[in-house]
Amino acid sequence: MSLDKNFIDKLVKITSSASIACHKHIGKKNKIIADKAATDAMRKNLNKLNINGKVVIGEGELDKAPMLYIGEKLGTGVGPNIDIAVDPLEGTNFAANNLPGALSVIAIAEKNNLFNAPETYMDKLAVGHDIPSEVTDLDFSVEKNIKNIADFKNVKIEQLTVCILDRPRHKDKIDILRQMKVKIKLISDGDISGALLVTNKKYKVDLFMGIGGGPEGVLAASALDAFNCKFQGRFIFKSEDDKTRAKNMGIKDFDKKYNLNEIIKGESIFCATGITNGDLVSGVTLKNGFYTTETLVTHKNSIIDIVKSKEAIT
Ligand code: FBP
Repeated sequence: MSLDKNFIDKLVKITSSASIACHKHIGKKNKIIADKAATDAMRKNLNKLNINGKVVIGEGELDKAPMLYIGEKLGTGVGPNIDIAVDPLEGTNFAANNLPGALSVIAIAEKNNLFNAPETYMDKLAVGHDIPSEVTDLDFSVEKNIKNIADFKNVKIEQLTVCILDRPRHKDKIDILRQMKVKIKLISDGDISGALLVTNKKYKVDLFMGIGGGPEGVLAASALDAFNCKFQGRFIFKSEDDKTRAKNMGIKDFDKKYNLNEIIKGESIFCATGITNGDLVSGVTLKNGFYTTETLVTHKNSIIDIVKSKEAIT
């Protein structure tokens, strides 16, 4: 089976419709309602696809999420077996507070090719396609990763930029980066976008690091794969409950470091549509009776593109 252009067009429509559904809730200070609007729209449209789909990354496990929960079957049931990863509203704070960076995101792959991840945190590292694999590693110290990148790029450490979520848990890493005089790009939320800033020199980010959501890590990995970038992630299981959930999903080694090709395999499609303007894509706009959206689309070995779509206001 091949995930052809037909699939790409349909997925672009799905993330676009979810972004449009969320659009009227931008800046309304209610992230739950904004998330629900995007989730409802995405689920409704995924259920129209002729696929035998299963959510492997979703809004949570069944006891926490009534829709797009991990394990939920989607599609008409007639068609190929597809693994689906969704984040209908990535950056709930961005949407609720009318800030840049809210996205609607989906990734699909053939069955068993997309990692089945529990709802937990993940320690992540991403670098661009130009960095050889031995230069950086999730297990290297911050200092070693930075020095190695600077040596490889033949630039001064002060010229490097590292993107990291602004969280108290990152204080030590941020302190080291500051002491090393690295340029720090602190993001308040949205680490799918953060990780994707290593994909192109125009974003001026040399390394993405730090702990964020595990589902967001898997979604970022599926796009980074198409860009031939490097990504590594290690789930963080704090409680016994986390470990039981992970075990139920087939995870045996709780400390395992996953490389990109263990998270996403084979052909995959990734779509991220802007809800509010961001680094990667513009947000939803309304003009002359039409909504216009912008979607970053990646399809391994074939397409990396920004697609504009139009939908009439109904
Ligand atoms: P939501 O869209 O679910 O609010 O997630 C936003 C986000 O910033 C993610 O991009 C990131 O992976 C995660 O939250 C980090 O979690 P936390 O805010 O708990 O540090």
